[in-house]
Amino acid sequence: MRMWNDVALRRERNSLRRVWRDLDETRRRYSQGGLIVIPILDLTAQYHSLKADMDAAITRVLESGIFIMGPNVDAFEKEVGEYLGARHAISLNSGTDALHLAFRALGIGPGDEVITTPFTFVATTEAIGIVGATPVFIDIDPRTFNIDPALIERAITKRTKAILPIHLYGAPAEMIEIERIAKQHGLAVVEDCAQAIGADIGGRKLGTIGDVGCFSFFPTKNLGAYGDGGLITTNDGALAERLKALRVHGGKRKYYHDELGINSRLDEIQAAILRVKLPHLERWIEARRAIAAHYTSVFKDEPQITVPADRAGERHVFHQYTVRVDQRDAVKQQMAAAGVQTMIYYPVPLHKQNVHRALPAARERFPHSEQAAREVLSLPIYPELSRSSQDAVIAALRSATKVKSAV
Ligand SMILES: Cc1ncc(COP(=O)(O)O)c(C=O)c1O
Repeated sequence: MRMWNDVALRRERNSLRRVWRDLDETRRRYSQGGLIVIPILDLTAQYHSLKADMDAAITRVLESGIFIMGPNVDAFEKEVGEYLGARHAISLNSGTDALHLAFRALGIGPGDEVITTPFTFVATTEAIGIVGATPVFIDIDPRTFNIDPALIERAITKRTKAILPIHLYGAPAEMIEIERIAKQHGLAVVEDCAQAIGADIGGRKLGTIGDVGCFSFFPTKNLGAYGDGGLITTNDGALAERLKALRVHGGKRKYYHDELGINSRLDEIQAAILRVKLPHLERWIEARRAIAAHYTSVFKDEPQITVPADRAGERHVFHQYTVRVDQRDAVKQQMAAAGVQTMIYYPVPLHKQNVHRALPAARERFPHSEQAAREVLSLPIYPELSRSSQDAVIAALRSATKVKSAV
């Protein structure tokens, strides 16, 4: 066993070294051509900053021979629960599972409606569909990209069971007002925190304000695993017990099954990786916020660029730094030519996606979501992004938008 592990580990190390060498080579070739290459995110930079601890943690799991539901999963759930201030933290295989199992545990299913926005990643509404419920869309607040609480009450019907705010890009949705409306109408609140771990409102971490918080540890997230992973937080003990059963085939005891569940477990290697990363999360968030502040300090004076809101009393964790610009696709192209990678989250709002063509919402208009899909552009942001790279991003966007506004 030990010999096999050593061989496997050596092979893995060699393959990682090869990847790192290839990346360096690509960078070298580009810079020889006079082109700076600034990726939107550089996960290898983070890995190399943690390499010794990370390699040791992964090796310990390999040596232990325990890969599912072991000590790292238990410890991680305790540590992340404490970090978030949640009474219960239940780890899962993905953020998508977190969302749909939250609906299962809350008893939401066929015939029920869940109010959310069409300006999000498809996993949000996919989860509603998986349990047989129907997403009911309302528009976003154009200043925050998040659900507009002023539109919620008119969307409530006899079938409404829950509100699903997404904390998009790491910015808190207006949870205090959403909670007030939910309480008044007897609705559950499921927070999609996939992009917002560590964000808070008045010191209360997102994922602990609604009934349930759903997190993703997809590798690109602010706290990312080296594979898929997810988490549900709740302060409701009964809900937590049901979720713990649902993630292992619907039973509290092995081989005794009370309801149909699924297999959705975070594995030991991913839990060990997340335990190495969690103590660095606060520092990484502050680094992201410092980069965002630097970008905003320049872009706020550029009339052709709209900067993201960073509201007092809330902590935006800048999973993405997303601006609005006119002629966005041309600006994106020009930045790529200058060696700066940018992304569009998301180019098509969900009511216009084929998957939702049968919904009544497919024929409705959501002007703010549609406009955001035309204008948003996310810039490189990650804790290791150097000041000189930040300045190169700034220069590239200023120049791209100036050229475009002169056309
Ligand atoms: C807003 C949002 N919700 C849900 C998810 C789903 O998470 P996962 O990819 O872990 O299933 C994601 C992740 O990409 C997301 O960005």
